[in-house]
Amino acid sequence: MPMDIFKITGPVRLEGEITVSGSKNSALPIMAATIMAAGKNTLHGVPQLSDIAVMCKLMEDMGCKTNTAGNTIILDTTNIDKPFGDYEIVRKMRASICILGPLLARCRKVEVSMPGGCAIGYRPVDIHLRGLQELGAKIELKNGYISATVNGGLKGANIFLGGAFGSSVLATANVLCAATLARGKTIIEYAACEPEITDLANCLVKMGAKITGIGSPQLTIHGVKELKPIEHTVIPDRIEAGTFMAAAAITKGKLKIKNCRGDHLMAAIDKLRSMNVGVEENEDDCVVWSEGNIKPTDITTLPYPGFPTDLQAQFMAVLCLAKGNSVITEKIFPDRFMHVAEMSRMAANLRKEGPHVIVSGVEKLIAAPVMASDLRASAALVVAALAAYGETIVNRVYHIDRGYEKIEEKLNAVGAKIERQSV
Ligand code: UD1
Repeated sequence: MPMDIFKITGPVRLEGEITVSGSKNSALPIMAATIMAAGKNTLHGVPQLSDIAVMCKLMEDMGCKTNTAGNTIILDTTNIDKPFGDYEIVRKMRASICILGPLLARCRKVEVSMPGGCAIGYRPVDIHLRGLQELGAKIELKNGYISATVNGGLKGANIFLGGAFGSSVLATANVLCAATLARGKTIIEYAACEPEITDLANCLVKMGAKITGIGSPQLTIHGVKELKPIEHTVIPDRIEAGTFMAAAAITKGKLKIKNCRGDHLMAAIDKLRSMNVGVEENEDDCVVWSEGNIKPTDITTLPYPGFPTDLQAQFMAVLCLAKGNSVITEKIFPDRFMHVAEMSRMAANLRKEGPHVIVSGVEKLIAAPVMASDLRASAALVVAALAAYGETIVNRVYHIDRGYEKIEEKLNAVGAKIERQSV
């Protein structure tokens, strides 16, 4: 099977306008939620990505009809007759787990493969299962599959959804979805507050769900009998926007980032400013510029509204060129540092100590062949390569294609030199 690589020539200076696509992490749980609203659901702003294609396949296998035209997807969930998530699909995309709650609510039984490990470390699903059990689901694990059934319907409950690393985004999505069709009232304490959960909750409300506390760690849900199909536009991808911000900063460039919600990126913007990077927030866009002279700073990843783990690697790339030392601490996925070894191959000065990385700024990065390991780490290698001297080869670009729509086309239009090749 041919595998794409990127050949990236640097250093370049990025300048111009770049547009952010719709959020993948918003689209996936919203697509899953349409399982509960039998009929034709229309979603706009859905990025054309391999993860979205995987979700379509998963939903088609259970009886849903999907129709994609550009960034609009119509999901006809009139017939859902096979509530099953096959290992062959789930292993490709962990986020497939977000079908669990909606399928349980609609079909009262579901079998979904346990997601395996992945490059960013061990990722358990105990919080998902605990939350659904509290709503009355009986859960068994067999042959690598989660089998969940509910006799007599789901029943509202008071649920504490915190785990060892704080809140869980997709566990909140699963329990929130299931609770909308449960009998009575559910209170979710320690709900994830990520904008993608807010988008999902707003979409569920459009479907007829009764939810209050949206955007806060306490969600109250009054169960309803049925949900209706909707038309919805997903929010802009804050992680793609943050990646472009890092790209502007590292290339001493100036980018007007359109379709960007600054209010979803407050922690990242705050860090950029403390790194001596200019940020102007406007209603629909953010302008980000740098003249070099990146100042070091310390970054700790935390659940929203803290600094997102999904931008940790990209910001590390920028700090590699800061004048001084920075400490990056990963509090969500303590092993999410696959990019450290690869950036070191590009002459970055990095030292990993447990969940911390000490970044000692260097004068310049030097191009090298590197290996993409997961979605965000790969994006960080692209960011680093834009500033590195020479031709960087990024292998295994399929990781980037999971989450960034036409990234090389978008970056090339503002001055990058990225060539995709099939090898
Ligand atoms: C989502 C995002 C992912 C992001 C992550 C954290 C999607 C499709 N993916 O993943 O890009 O990096 O949020 O912002 O939206 N945990 C448990 N038990 C569980 C579930 C999670 O211990 O049952 C732990 C995880 O290992 C991790 C932390 O909780 O340490 C947060 O993970 P979680 O928010 O669940 O990540 P995802 O929802 O899978």
